[in-house]
Amino acid sequence: MVAVEDGPVRHPLNVDADGIDRTPGPDKHPYYAHLAASDSGILPVVRQVGGEWLPALLICRYDDVREVLRRQDLFSRAAAAHADQVDVSGTMLGMDGAEHAAVRGTVKDSFTKPAVSGLSDTVCAAAEAQLAVLAARGGSADLVGDFAVPFALNVISDLLGLPEPDRAQFRRWGDMFMGTADLTRAEAARSAEEMGGYLWQQLDGRRGCPRDDLMTRIATAAAEQPVDVQVKLPLSLLVGGWETTASSISTFVYLLRSRPYAGHDHAWDYLLEHPEQVDGAVTELERLHSTSNGDEMPRRVMADVTLPSGARLAEGDIVIPSHDAANRDPRVFADPERMDFGRDPNPHLSFGYGPHYCVGAHLGALEVRVALTLLLRELPALRLAVAPNEVRWKQGHAILGPVELPVKW
Ligand code: HEM
Repeated sequence: MVAVEDGPVRHPLNVDADGIDRTPGPDKHPYYAHLAASDSGILPVVRQVGGEWLPALLICRYDDVREVLRRQDLFSRAAAAHADQVDVSGTMLGMDGAEHAAVRGTVKDSFTKPAVSGLSDTVCAAAEAQLAVLAARGGSADLVGDFAVPFALNVISDLLGLPEPDRAQFRRWGDMFMGTADLTRAEAARSAEEMGGYLWQQLDGRRGCPRDDLMTRIATAAAEQPVDVQVKLPLSLLVGGWETTASSISTFVYLLRSRPYAGHDHAWDYLLEHPEQVDGAVTELERLHSTSNGDEMPRRVMADVTLPSGARLAEGDIVIPSHDAANRDPRVFADPERMDFGRDPNPHLSFGYGPHYCVGAHLGALEVRVALTLLLRELPALRLAVAPNEVRWKQGHAILGPVELPVKW
C-alpha cells in the first residue's frame, strides 16, 4: 500500500497543498489501485474550489462508480455546481434529467457509432493533411502543436462548420476555459464570454443562411433553449472535442515510445510488428492513462442511498465517482496495473457511463486510432527527442497531457 499523508486527504491525490503537482505525468497516483481494491472503496477527501477546501467522498469501486454515473436522479450534477472546479454551468455536463436530455438530444445523432463511421474518410484525410505539415518540419517537431492539436481542432471545427482562419483563437480560449487553478477562474470566465460572443454570431448567421453543418443543426434544434445554453453547446463540443483527443494522442505516443511491452524496449516497436493490435492498445491506454480529469466531476447525493458494495451515502453528500480508481478494480480487471493490449473485455470508464457518457466517445476514439495508425505506418522511426523525464506536463488543467512533445524521426 502506498501511504498518503495523515489528516484529510487532498484530491487530486498527486497535488500538494499549494496546488502544484510535483510529479506531473501520465501515471495515476498508485493509491487509486489500493482504494479500488479495498472493501469500503470510499475515501473522504478535501478539494480546493474557489479558495475554499470542500469535503467530498471519492467513490472508487467499479460497481459503485457505475451506479453513481448511471443514477442521475440520485446523484445530481446540477446540484453539485458549487463544488465544480471548472464552471460547466449551462453545458450538458452541468445538467440533469429532462433539461440534460433535451440539450444532448439536439446533437447526439451526429455522434452515434454509425454517424461516426461515416466520418472515417474525412478524419483520415484530416490526419494525412496534418501529417504532411508535420513531415515538412524535416526530421523533428512538436507532436502536440504540429500534429495532435491542429488535427483534433480541425476535425471538430469542420464538423461544426467553423471558419478556418478563426481556429488559432479557439485554442487560446479553450486553454483558459479548462484551467482548474483558482487563479485562472476569472480568466476562464472571460474566455468563455469571448468565445460565447463569437459562437453566438456564428449561430445567428446560420439562422439567416443555413448550411450543411452542425452549427446550423444547433441553431435550428436548440433555438428554444436560453441563449447561454445555445452558445455553450458548440463550446462544449469544441473544447471537449479537441483538447481531450489531442492530449490522448500525444500522451499515448509518449507512453508507447517510453514504456517496454512484451519483450520490446518500447511498446511502439511491438505495435510496428502487430499493427492489428492498435485498437486494443488504444483501449488499454485509455483505461490506464485517461486524459480526461473526469474525477473532477462531482455529484450531490439527493437521498440516502446504499451503493452496490453496501456503502451508505447520506443526502447532501458530495461524491466524486473516480474512473481512475474504478479502472483499476481487480474485481473487473485482472492484474489491473498490467498493460495488456489484448485485454478483452475492457469495459473501462474513461469516457464516463450512463446519461453523461461522453457524447464524442466514438469520434474521439476514432481520431486517436487513425492518428496512431498513421504515425506508425508513415513515421515508424518516430521517437522522443528529449529524455522522457524532460517532457513538461500540463498543470491545473481539467485535461491531462504534455504541454509539448518534442519528437524526431
Ligand atoms: C478521446 C478523447 C475523450 C475523452 C477521454 C473524453 C472523456 C469524457 C468523459 C469522461 C466524459 C463524462 C464526464 C462525466 O461523466 O461527468 C465526457 C463527456 C463529454 N464529452 Fe468527451 N471525451 C473525449 C472526446 C470527446 C469529443 C471528441 C467530444 C466532442 C465531439 C467530446 C465531448 C463531450 C461532451 C459534450 C460531454 C458531456 C456529455 C454529457 O454531459 O451528456 N468528448 N467526455
